[in-house]
Amino acid sequence: MVNIAILGYGTVGSGVVEVLHMNGESISKRCGHDINVKYILDLRDFKGEPVENLIVHDYSIIVNDPEVKVIVEVMGGVEPAYSFVKEAILKGKSVCTSNKELVAKHGAELLELSKAQKVNFLFEASVGGGIPIIRPLNQSLTADEIEEITGILNGTTNYILTKMSSDNADFDTALKEAQAMGYAERNPKADVEGFDACRKIAILSSLAFGMQVDFEDIYIEGITEISDIDVLYAATMGASIKLLATSKKVGNRVYAMVAPMLIKPTHPLFSVNGVFNGIFVRGNVIGDVMFYGSGAGKLPTASAVVADVVDAAKHIGTNIMTFWSSRKLELTDIKAVEH
Ligand code: HSE
Repeated sequence: MVNIAILGYGTVGSGVVEVLHMNGESISKRCGHDINVKYILDLRDFKGEPVENLIVHDYSIIVNDPEVKVIVEVMGGVEPAYSFVKEAILKGKSVCTSNKELVAKHGAELLELSKAQKVNFLFEASVGGGIPIIRPLNQSLTADEIEEITGILNGTTNYILTKMSSDNADFDTALKEAQAMGYAERNPKADVEGFDACRKIAILSSLAFGMQVDFEDIYIEGITEISDIDVLYAATMGASIKLLATSKKVGNRVYAMVAPMLIKPTHPLFSVNGVFNGIFVRGNVIGDVMFYGSGAGKLPTASAVVADVVDAAKHIGTNIMTFWSSRKLELTDIKAVEH
């Protein structure tokens, strides 16, 4: 049996417990171990709920318990997540996280530390919700030089844009629906102003190009200025507006940006609607590959987190992640790149 602890019992944390309950038997078979949730760290009490006896309020109980081998960090935000995760790794525990802010900012350091400690720092759920994209970049596409990653990486904004174009919904109503369904960030500004997609493309670019891509260096434009008239004009042209996050290597130079763009039906991302995300990857050997699926929401995100838990439990004592250098990759201004 492998004991785990979950930090945060919000949308994703409760989803992790649900998935382990729903598919416990098949997960144990695939993993070779039963996964047991020993603790849940949350400030609230959850009196009368099935998880009541697992709730603790003091992280030191978890991090100092040698029986806990894997920590699931689904609190979000940089602090205290960063301090908790670092301490866990230093104490020889693997960490699985859905926290894109943490990975975008401290991923290089935490990957290096986990390698030194022979544990794993896994973050499949940090990009694309339930879509496998970190593992493919880390394992299946390693024969390739990655030339381009372009994705719809934020479910909330894709949901809003889809509702505006297919149901004539107004921006605020569509945003409220996305919030009610648990897609949006606690502060939805991160979604609609493009910061969330920006962190995700920074993570994918760092992994693909092997060096730290700072999200602060990436040009960002969100969807707050998109009006129903824009959506109508796009439809009249047979196109649609999507918030795209893109990162391209041209020669030795890399540029990245997040912005709403007009795309035509011939583009592979044209049909990615609603909360779905799509990620187009171009490698110099494999050619073009597309990843598609639920980009946000409780169960899809929990599916990716639990898959990481299975990997961490299967590989106790062995580090399986490729790490990227903390050396910063200087991005090139898009205007300086020849097409
Ligand atoms: N707020 C994010 C989104 C959640 O809408 O895509 C998944 O990272």
